[in-house]
Amino acid sequence: MTGSKELYAQSKELTPGGVSSPVRAFAPYPLFIESARGCRIKDADGSEYVDLCMAYGPLISGHAHPEVMDAVRDQLSKGTVYGAPSELELALIRRIHECVPSAEMVRLAVSGTEATMHAVRLARGYTGKDGIVKMNGGFHGAHDSVLVSAGSGSAGGVPSSAGVLADTAKHTFTAEYNDIESLSVLLDSRGVIACVIMEPVMGNVGVVPPEPGYLRDVRRVTEEHGVVLIFDEVITGFRLSAGGAQGLYGVTPDMTTMAKIVGGGFPAGAFAGKREIMENVAPRGKVYAAGTFAGNPVSAAAGLAQIDLMTRDDNYRKLNIRTGALAKAFGDMMADADVDGCVNYAGSMLSVFFGIPRATCGREAMMADRSMFDRLFRSMLKKGVYLPPSALEVDFLSLAHDDASLRKAEEAFGASMRDVKG
Ligand SMILES: Cc1ncc(COP(=O)(O)O)c(C=O)c1O
Repeated sequence: MTGSKELYAQSKELTPGGVSSPVRAFAPYPLFIESARGCRIKDADGSEYVDLCMAYGPLISGHAHPEVMDAVRDQLSKGTVYGAPSELELALIRRIHECVPSAEMVRLAVSGTEATMHAVRLARGYTGKDGIVKMNGGFHGAHDSVLVSAGSGSAGGVPSSAGVLADTAKHTFTAEYNDIESLSVLLDSRGVIACVIMEPVMGNVGVVPPEPGYLRDVRRVTEEHGVVLIFDEVITGFRLSAGGAQGLYGVTPDMTTMAKIVGGGFPAGAFAGKREIMENVAPRGKVYAAGTFAGNPVSAAAGLAQIDLMTRDDNYRKLNIRTGALAKAFGDMMADADVDGCVNYAGSMLSVFFGIPRATCGREAMMADRSMFDRLFRSMLKKGVYLPPSALEVDFLSLAHDDASLRKAEEAFGASMRDVKG
């Protein structure tokens, strides 16, 4: 069997950095995964790990859940993509409509990037305005309008990737999450804003939940300014609850983007919102959005099966309680070992921040000590627990994380504290 080291050597000759998405890379080489089941992954070197990365979020029922696999196998025998509508696709659309409060109408896509790209275009087409606002540290996929960092002073943003035009980035403004003043001031001083796009619970600087009343304030301020509010629920959709973050916190945006869990482990995305806005999408309206694989029946079958699983037997509540217990255990172990930092969690998302007392916004979260995190990552890996390799990512739990796996994660974390201190 060819091991990870050798596969990586071959891979980096043929694909940039040896990986298909940058976050997967870590030194000296990433693990190449051979198989996965439940909450465990096995690499090409024959080692098995408890997985707390879980492919960055789509697998809320675990890897290869039998019910999801059965639904997929059943669909595979009927074809994989039709280039025409199907009843299964309609069933997924209906399920999203029934579960997600803002989803009066839904359009399927293939990824989170596509969903947010279409949603921003739609908000611009609907309002006739060019500007968008995102949060400092918010991530909305790999397209030009959102690959933008805050500029200096009152100018718009600057490209956060080579190849993004300064002319595009100048239309993207940045506010600070959990700071309603920063958003109000921005909206007061700019008449050009089409939409605010934000993760209702931040998930790309680690987990940062909203402070009480914050999302309600965002809703009020955007309404006052006639600005479309887009909750990017690519991570939180069908994760925090069946209604996503908006279901959990009781705040309904104008539009919502989703991906990850809606595909049940297969590629899928969706954007949804008020009928008045969504009716502007082609072919009904003039805002173009399209995709060969959008609404494909295999992803729809998997997504529906996973959502069905999650919405029975009180599964969300049980999973969220387990996550809270793991977060508390991690926090207690840090305190016992005199390791500075804090643990944030929301639903079944969890993050450890080293060296800072709290992480309530992108600015604070990005001040966390990355080298301490890197030592945790490597120490946990040696002890058989696979975390996302970056300090800015999130640990995800699934229904498949049983007592034994969580005990193993706790023990590994406790035993890693000495390494973390360095
Ligand atoms: C909040 C958010 N939006 C959009 C995206 C892009 O999704 P995708 O990777 O499916 O393109 C991500 C990816 O992790 C995300 O976390």
